[in-house]
Amino acid sequence: MRKPIIAANWKMNKTVSEAAEFARELKDLAKDIFSVEIVVCPPFIALGAVGEVLRNTNIRMGAQNMHWEKSGAFTGEISPVMLRDLGCRFVIIGHSERRGYFQETNKDINKKMKSAFSFNLTPIMCVGEKLEERESKSTLKVVEKQIKEGLAEIGKEEIKSLVVAYEPIWAIGTGKTATPADASEVHAHIRSVLSSMHDSETAQQVRIQYGGSVTPESVGGLMKEEGIDGALVGGASLNVNSFLKIIQFNNSRV
Ligand code: 13P
Repeated sequence: MRKPIIAANWKMNKTVSEAAEFARELKDLAKDIFSVEIVVCPPFIALGAVGEVLRNTNIRMGAQNMHWEKSGAFTGEISPVMLRDLGCRFVIIGHSERRGYFQETNKDINKKMKSAFSFNLTPIMCVGEKLEERESKSTLKVVEKQIKEGLAEIGKEEIKSLVVAYEPIWAIGTGKTATPADASEVHAHIRSVLSSMHDSETAQQVRIQYGGSVTPESVGGLMKEEGIDGALVGGASLNVNSFLKIIQFNNSRV
């Protein structure tokens, strides 16, 4: 049984005090929720304050990016050791905004993935196609390449703990959500690629989230799909009540 995982990606939003305030509110509101793994991913500078608030709670913290080296002359970068030190258990890797605006390649992502596993951070690895790729029916091919190259040379014990986020780029921040059936098709393909790289037992343990304009209204339909194990939420995670409703998708199922 895969435990559902719902993560908030705040992107470049919230000051340190706003982030800490959100964490305090969420900590109280979500204190009885254990059926879902809850993760918040604040901007780097808020990790210290949010980590303090969430210490010893049922809410985990993740970073939105990291460098693959543990230290060194990489001005402006943040290392996996620093993230662990602040209490991060998760790290988002290869978000489409990093691939698109900061030219991150599958090769860079592979280095970060290997590094995250070696420093005991659970990576949330993002994959997803552009609108023109969906329209030309190359979605499955694009996602397969991202999975194969991003996860090259990583052993199956690590893969079992992996979280993949399928985020079609055309659905991010646009209000357009993939239909549960469309998302489900891609999730099944990701799982079959993982199975071909390792074995089906390994692939069955990987949690695959959907991301792209997830809201309290759309989450229930998505989570009903067999292969959708959670959500990576941008805009709708910035408000604590809206994020709480998403975490409570079980109750909001219609
Ligand atoms: P939105 O939920 O704002 O579409 O963002 C999705 C996303 O990119 C999460 O990583």
